[in-house]
Amino acid sequence: MNTDELRERLRFLNDIGIKELRLPPVAMAPPTKIDILPSLSPDGDTLARISADIGDCTRCKLHAGRNKIVFGSGNENARLVFVGEGPGADEDAQGFPFVGRAGQLLTQMIDGTASKEGIPIRRSDTYICNVVKCRPPENRTPEPDEMAICGEFLFRQLMTIKPKAICALGSTAAKAVLGTKDGVMKLRGNWHKWRDIPVMVTYHPSYLLRPYNQNAKREAWEDLKKVLHYVYD
Ligand code: URA
Repeated sequence: MNTDELRERLRFLNDIGIKELRLPPVAMAPPTKIDILPSLSPDGDTLARISADIGDCTRCKLHAGRNKIVFGSGNENARLVFVGEGPGADEDAQGFPFVGRAGQLLTQMIDGTASKEGIPIRRSDTYICNVVKCRPPENRTPEPDEMAICGEFLFRQLMTIKPKAICALGSTAAKAVLGTKDGVMKLRGNWHKWRDIPVMVTYHPSYLLRPYNQNAKREAWEDLKKVLHYVYD
């Protein structure tokens, strides 16, 4: 690994909230292969290349329970990227993000809001992916090591697409993209930044599917309106 690659790797770790690195005890044997992941931003990176680099991934424990890797879907040149947490059962079975109940709500939110606001786009004009590409067991929250490993691929996806804005769905996506511990309630509704790209955080559609979340639903629609107008006006 050269100095630039090391700098980029440290910046990535900082971005996802890892501020301190502990060196292994000196008595430990050095790892035989230090760089288990490809470079963070290879020249001429493409989504196809990132997907090929993921390959039949076994880099973290999530691989053991997955059926399909859920890489992402939508327009490779999208001006807007949505980032979710990780695949659920439907996504794991089909290999595509947000195809279950939460996905149907996300589609309604994007298509419905765009149409009401007179913005001529649909879900398929955006790009949608997750922080982790394999389904966590029992849909648990992805763990820091899983997010750190898969986060590199997410960041490459974002760097390759270079959208005008990113919409982080829920606190796991916000944490991965912004490297913050703050929750959605605190972050939502205002613009943040990943590198130079504006990031809006809003509620995860699964949260909106729960009863008694009328207020959150209204706020999510407001957030989405803000994002759509910023990106497409
Ligand atoms: N929830 C997510 O965060 N992502 C999906 O792809 C589906 C449900």
